[in-house]
Amino acid sequence: MDVSAVLAAMHGTQAALAVLSALALTAHLFPPHAQVADNEEFDFIVVGAGSAGAVVAERLSELPHYNVLVIEAGGDPPIESLTPSLYTYLARTAYDWNLTSEEEGSAHCAASAHFPLTSGRVLGGGSSLNYLFYVRGAPADYDAWAAAAGDRAWAWPALLPYFLRSESLRSETLLRSPAARYHGTAGFHGVTREARPEAVRYLRAFGELHDVLPDINGDRSLGYTLQLYSIADGVRQTTAYTNLARCKGRTNLHVLKHTVVTEILFDELNNAVGVKTVVGGDRVVTLRARREVVVSAGALNTPKLLMLSGVGPRDHLESLNITVRSDLPVGHNYNDHIVTFTSVELDDDEVKDRPVDPATQPLPAFTGYVALHSGQTYPDYQAINYIVPKRSPAPAQFCAFALSQDPSICQSLLEASRKTTLLSVIALLHPKSRGRVSLRSADSADPPRVCTGTFAHEDDAETLARAAQDHLRVLETAEFRRLNASLVDLRLRGCGAADARSREYWRCHVRRARSTMFHYSGTCALGAVLDARLRVRGVGRLRVADASAMPALVGGNINAPVIALAEKAADIIKEDHAAVSSAFDFSSIKMFAAPLY
Ligand SMILES: Cc1cc2nc3c(=O)[nH]c(=O)nc-3n(C[C@H](O)[C@H](O)[C@H](O)COP(=O)(O)OP(=O)(O)OC[C@H]3O[C@@H](n4cnc5c(N)ncnc54)[C@H](O)[C@@H]3O)c2cc1C
Ligand SMILES: *[C@@H]1O[C@H](CO)[C@@H](O)[C@H](O)[C@H]1NC(C)=O
Ligand SMILES: *[C@@H]1O[C@H](CO)[C@@H](O)[C@H](O)[C@H]1NC(C)=O
Ligand SMILES: *[C@@H]1O[C@H](CO)[C@@H](O)[C@H](O)[C@H]1NC(C)=O
Repeated sequence: MDVSAVLAAMHGTQAALAVLSALALTAHLFPPHAQVADNEEFDFIVVGAGSAGAVVAERLSELPHYNVLVIEAGGDPPIESLTPSLYTYLARTAYDWNLTSEEEGSAHCAASAHFPLTSGRVLGGGSSLNYLFYVRGAPADYDAWAAAAGDRAWAWPALLPYFLRSESLRSETLLRSPAARYHGTAGFHGVTREARPEAVRYLRAFGELHDVLPDINGDRSLGYTLQLYSIADGVRQTTAYTNLARCKGRTNLHVLKHTVVTEILFDELNNAVGVKTVVGGDRVVTLRARREVVVSAGALNTPKLLMLSGVGPRDHLESLNITVRSDLPVGHNYNDHIVTFTSVELDDDEVKDRPVDPATQPLPAFTGYVALHSGQTYPDYQAINYIVPKRSPAPAQFCAFALSQDPSICQSLLEASRKTTLLSVIALLHPKSRGRVSLRSADSADPPRVCTGTFAHEDDAETLARAAQDHLRVLETAEFRRLNASLVDLRLRGCGAADARSREYWRCHVRRARSTMFHYSGTCALGAVLDARLRVRGVGRLRVADASAMPALVGGNINAPVIALAEKAADIIKEDHAAVSSAFDFSSIKMFAAPLY
């Protein structure tokens, strides 16, 4: 079998799933499509029902006197989204915006990499198609947010309550441990913990080098741990399900699907008063907001919409004849975790290829958070490790389809599958490089132009090379020696033979075998574009609440932080409209414990 056969099988499954999705088997779970009239008015309009937008809209609608409209370009998540084991099939389907970044060295940006920038175009956004890792980052990471915002309201102690409020941890082991105080049990977002025996066994090998922690969300931020997942009762915890489906009975929460917002409308005082939309691909409809417009369209589409509406860098907007309302560095500071990957083959017959359990991640996973500098309390890199049984096509699939790597690299992974392998995705947690999102034209139908800036700062490639080498110290552990572990040579062009010891090899490796972690962020950053209350500077009644607001990346996957940010955004908005509900309503949570289908 070669990589093209693996890809053909992927596409075949996607085609079959597309047929299934025509049956709309999940439609009964989600709120109905709102019927809106031209010029209809709401209290709040939320643009985008993604990880953040669905939470903001739902929380605002807790107040019965607020009439809330959330507008989403996509529709209901299909079965393959709600079923955790099927996430690999969601990229490049009708549920993906199919955005890509600019070519390396293109006329518009020198440092970039041609990545598929998979992004959800579906209720729940990224939370409907991401890889389900539940991670928060280290407390120290949030100091950068507080510094950028000039407000300790964005530091860890002030954000932790929002993580707790949104979470419902389903791990008896952790809940009986001292880590329990860092977890919520009554929130909407169910979290389960990896429990497969292979993961526990492999953790022990890493335990020869690192601390093994029951939980990384406690007092310590360095070490190896079993992975937590955004999965509960066998269902992906997409905000489409946890927030919109759960509240579909609220008459003051309206969900407008298959509708693209093309412009934010302002009055003569530069207050946002509504949006222009295209409903169902052809009907142009204007919708009005009495109180505010909240943009939660994600870190690629939020800056695009702001710039189309006259909020952005003056020179850029003027070059497209867009009238400037507020001259701000929108689209600057694009930030993403850059990753490289390694594979180690082992003589390990105890790892069995069992039938896939649809209710969980297809492969057992555990994760390490490691500092390269002694004395540092927060990690420089994250290593997500998947234990892959013999003959599994998963790594080659992941390589060729999800990450769009060179076929020859993926072929090496496929050949390595004659043995058990450990596939590790190594992420640089605090990149110094920044990219930029800008407009291709003033036409809202054009995708945004994304320069990733990957390795624009030379320290980044060097740090990632060190991280990969550091990670592979595991080859020298007693357990990995016992299993005859050896590095799989990915046969990277121009890098020479894989050598776990030479820095020279790893500098080349990280440039040839690299990808995005899909953690686009920072393009409407707190401090620069937004004030500490998430208000867009220089205009009125307009906020941004999504990954664009993050001034710096936290040291981990960002879905849970986006949700915490959205929770805080909803509270800020309620406060600013003098309508804070005194207590969080825990009674509403019980209803989604019932099985789904
Ligand atoms: C493939 C992939 C894997 C990932 N894996 C993980 C993981 O394992 N763990 C983790 O923590 N994080 C992961 N992430 C990251 C995380 O899911 C995202 O950072 C997060 O979902 C971003 O949330 P958001 O609210 O900022 O944007 P989104 O969730 O992208 O929401 C934006 C929404 O706005 C809609 N929209 C955009 N423009 C318009 C418009 N003009 N009009 C109407 N609607 C519009 C979009 O369709 C979308 O639904 C992953 C992301 C991807 C893409
Ligand atoms: C993305 O690309 C796939 C495959 O080419 C296509 O089927 C799908 O409709 C595209 N998505 C959108 C939103 O256009
Ligand atoms: C901007 O307007 C000027 C004057 O009308 C025109 O010459 C130019 O082509 C326009 N530029 C763009 C990008 O549309
Ligand atoms: C490791 O390799 C040696 C030599 O080929 C072999 O005898 C041994 O059985 C291998 N170990 C395992 C765990 O398979």
